[in-house]
Amino acid sequence: MSRTYRIAPSILSADFARLGDELRNVIDGGADWIHFDVMDNHYVPNLTFGPMICSALKPHAKTADGKPVPIDAHLMVEPVDALAQAFAQAGADYISFHPDASTHVHRSVQAIRAAGCRPGLVFNPAAPIDVLDWMIDDIDLVLVMSVNPGFGGQGFIESALRKIEQVRKRIDASGRDIRLEVDGGIKVDNIARAAAAGADTFVAGSAIFSQPDYKAVIAAMRSALKG
Ligand code: DX5
Ligand code: ZN
Repeated sequence: MSRTYRIAPSILSADFARLGDELRNVIDGGADWIHFDVMDNHYVPNLTFGPMICSALKPHAKTADGKPVPIDAHLMVEPVDALAQAFAQAGADYISFHPDASTHVHRSVQAIRAAGCRPGLVFNPAAPIDVLDWMIDDIDLVLVMSVNPGFGGQGFIESALRKIEQVRKRIDASGRDIRLEVDGGIKVDNIARAAAAGADTFVAGSAIFSQPDYKAVIAAMRSALKG
């Protein structure tokens, strides 16, 4: 089945001393989205960046000919709601969160949508996906974690492929245009397997930012997706 694939480099692995340049370079290299890994040192044992960094980078999230590049904010935070609103104000386009980090998942999703952003739910490697029974009609993105949240550069957890297959079935049954994103340990040599399982959006941090030529590694990912 032909799907429109999206490559979403995670700036978690970018040079934090040159984030603006890194954003422009990876967009020039062909990035479709920019993945913001937001960590609060509470929900996950790491601390990254907040809404002010998102605001600062928003003007640079566009292609050379001025086309906006969506900011895909992955909130690894608890509680969720206040930071979700702050990221909405800061210019995030997609805002996804982990259901176990919100007391009222449906209300958190509603609030993200009401702020004009596209809501998503994130599933950790051991997390069940049955909340989708009640939320599939309210979200625009499902993010399947193929590593435990908190750090870049980890190894791909194979069971994520089975979860992607199950989520793909639910998305197709819903008939809605929901992006299925996979996050963690995605490389040139495994991206095709994630796509074959049903993913259409691919987060890659260390696989891209560890390379001298972002264009070359993103192109290699796209050709791996072509099969
Ligand atoms: C984990 C992060 C990472 C990051 C991708 O909390 O969400 O998965 O986006 O990191 P890599 O691509 O280096 O595994
Ligand atoms: Zn992420």
